[in-house]
Amino acid sequence: MPKWYPATVVEKRIWTEGLFTIRVSASEVMPFVPGQFLHLGVFPDGHDGDESKLINRPYSVASPHGDELEFFIVLVEEGELTPRLWKLEPGSSLQVSQRAAGSFTLKKTPDAETLWLVSTGTGLAPYIAMLRTDAPWESFQNIVVVHGVRHLADLAYSDELKALEKTHSGRFKLVQALTREQANGTMNGRIPALFDSGEIESFTGFECRADNSSVLLCGNPAMLDTMEEVLGKRNMKRHRSKSPGQIVLERYW
Ligand SMILES: Cc1cc2nc3c(=O)[nH]c(=O)nc-3n(C[C@H](O)[C@H](O)[C@H](O)COP(=O)(O)OP(=O)(O)OC[C@H]3O[C@@H](n4cnc5c(N)ncnc54)[C@H](O)[C@@H]3O)c2cc1C
Ligand SMILES: NC(=O)c1ccc[n+]([C@@H]2O[C@H](COP(=O)([O-])OP(=O)(O)OC[C@H]3O[C@@H](n4cnc5c(N)ncnc54)[C@H](OP(=O)(O)O)[C@@H]3O)[C@@H](O)[C@H]2O)c1
Repeated sequence: MPKWYPATVVEKRIWTEGLFTIRVSASEVMPFVPGQFLHLGVFPDGHDGDESKLINRPYSVASPHGDELEFFIVLVEEGELTPRLWKLEPGSSLQVSQRAAGSFTLKKTPDAETLWLVSTGTGLAPYIAMLRTDAPWESFQNIVVVHGVRHLADLAYSDELKALEKTHSGRFKLVQALTREQANGTMNGRIPALFDSGEIESFTGFECRADNSSVLLCGNPAMLDTMEEVLGKRNMKRHRSKSPGQIVLERYW
């Protein structure tokens, strides 16, 4: 059972209905590494303070360690916790675990020329945390963020990511792929198919090969599985300490 402490929502940003970022006060969270996750919890009505009843789930932290932390969350309407998180407003309280966990970090990612940060939906969260630090820029020559969502309105953090194309000109590329509508400046289709066809590499100008790339995958588990198959055809495989590879992943469900 994690050790909990009461945090307060200091800001809520709604990207589109049901897709939101909350910033919470978190001075009691122990130092952690970008890419790790914390647990967020809400007491059900009538059970305030009863930790045995706390409804909680893991969430990647979408910001580096600090006095306030960001979480990028989607409302799963039939879900148990997210409808409660969606109702939180600035000033609301929630429970946050004190100690982060997880090995979806750059420290656990093999060195390479190009780092591919591939995500669907809120799987973008850990990459936002990483990209707000110097670490990825010190370790990799090129960085590509691939973000796949259903609709244009779901492209959260777009301005922040586009700004990186200017500040890290020539070293950073952003690929945004929509599956349920078309829009200028975005690709159309699911990420594995766009990788398999070579469209993503043509768009970025970077090649994704076993001898030059590391690939992080985060979000929808079906995307992770298909991406592993697609990358497997390029002799890329899961990175394990005893059996080095190129792929590191975080499964959200
Ligand atoms: C390590 C880790 C990190 C995570 N980080 C995040 C995060 O940063 N942001 C976030 O929104 N979720 C994240 N999740 C998912 C989160 O823990 C919950 O599962 C999710 O918020 C649903 O909770 P719920 O109680 O509302 O739904 P539940 O009653 O638990 O229903 C779960 C179902 O919702 C669907 N689902 C779960 N998560 C998502 C998602 N993110 N996008 C689309 N469908 C989903 C799946 O079909 C799943 O079976 C993470 C999960 C893990 C394991
Ligand atoms: N604006 C929002 O994002 C929003 C708002 C409110 C509620 N919700 C709810 O939140 C839940 C999750 O929605 P979400 O859109 O964030 O996540 P999602 O269903 O995982 O979809 C995100 C992206 O992943 C793609 N994808 C799905 N399966 C894939 C696979 N096998 N391989 C590759 N790509 C795949 C989707 O493409 P496809 O379109 O082809 O499936 C979509 O582009 C749903 O219950 C939704 O109703 C979402």
